[in-house]
Amino acid sequence: MRHFYFKKDTLYVLDQRFLPHKEIWVKCKNYRDVADIIKKMVVRGAPLIGVVAGYGVYLGAKEGKFYQAYKELKNTRPTAKNLFFALERMRKVYEEKKDVLSVLKEAKKIEEEDRILCNKIGEFGEKLIKKNFKVLTHCNAGSLATAGIGTALGVIRKAKKKIKMVWVDETRPYLQGSRLTAWELEKEKIPYKIICDNMAGFLMRKGEVDCVIVGADRIARNGDTANKIGTYSLSVLAKYHKIPFYVAAPYSTFDLKLKDGSEIPIEERSEKEVKEIQGKKITPIKAKVFNPAFDVTPHNLITAIITEKGIIRNPDKSKICKFYKKMAK
Ligand code: MRU
Repeated sequence: MRHFYFKKDTLYVLDQRFLPHKEIWVKCKNYRDVADIIKKMVVRGAPLIGVVAGYGVYLGAKEGKFYQAYKELKNTRPTAKNLFFALERMRKVYEEKKDVLSVLKEAKKIEEEDRILCNKIGEFGEKLIKKNFKVLTHCNAGSLATAGIGTALGVIRKAKKKIKMVWVDETRPYLQGSRLTAWELEKEKIPYKIICDNMAGFLMRKGEVDCVIVGADRIARNGDTANKIGTYSLSVLAKYHKIPFYVAAPYSTFDLKLKDGSEIPIEERSEKEVKEIQGKKITPIKAKVFNPAFDVTPHNLITAIITEKGIIRNPDKSKICKFYKKMAK
């Protein structure tokens, strides 16, 4: 499924704010346009943010404004490590080679690499899914969030034949689940049902969920994982009901500089996202709102992290550090 491409020095992206009902393409001709589409969540999802930022930096370099582009893109969204991972890679190449074509080559490499990482995550994760499994997922960790088949949805795609049902969390307030994940599953013909975020406990208690699989925005050295707001609540529910809780993520999401999840910056977004649904006001005009976009799931609530190099069971500091060496090779 093509939802972005780079051609003749222009980045074209499918505007995720209007999916699934309208397929509107947005053109980015310079780094400012790219920063804008990341901030406004025209594109979103940790790996995809990194990939498009790579092209943004290239467009900046072409204008002779590499460092301005690097700085502006760095200040778009604070939580996903993949953004900073991509920007650092671009900076290194620019400083070593000092030529714009090498910068473009690196951006393409990041894109291609993400495609491969998703496939490998899917192949490892697929082994965790048994016949007739009912899987619950939160947010959108699919094609629309990556350059490939997705991370959590990559696993679901690869295990397609064994899956009886995907429970799709609606994922308030941006509705990544009901708008984007549902759209992807529909195209793939994978059976799914959308649930509101507060229905998961009810289903787990009834024995209707065999495992939970989510993506990640940043994973600290001890395995604590930031992901879309609501993920932590799901992990607590899964623990109580003895349901495996899996996180699927590539090495570009790991941040070994951070001791634990308390050091992960959590983005707070506009109150408008909660007070309105698709432009329609749904609360008292003067209502006060708190809108954190992510939460942190402590590592002891995670059954395993699925990576492109294999599965880290009961993740902790020593396992993550050992595994990362393998991943970063
Ligand atoms: O705010 P978003 O939509 O960018 O948040 C996305 C998520 O939380 C995803 O689960 C995460 O980025 C993993 S995507 C493979």
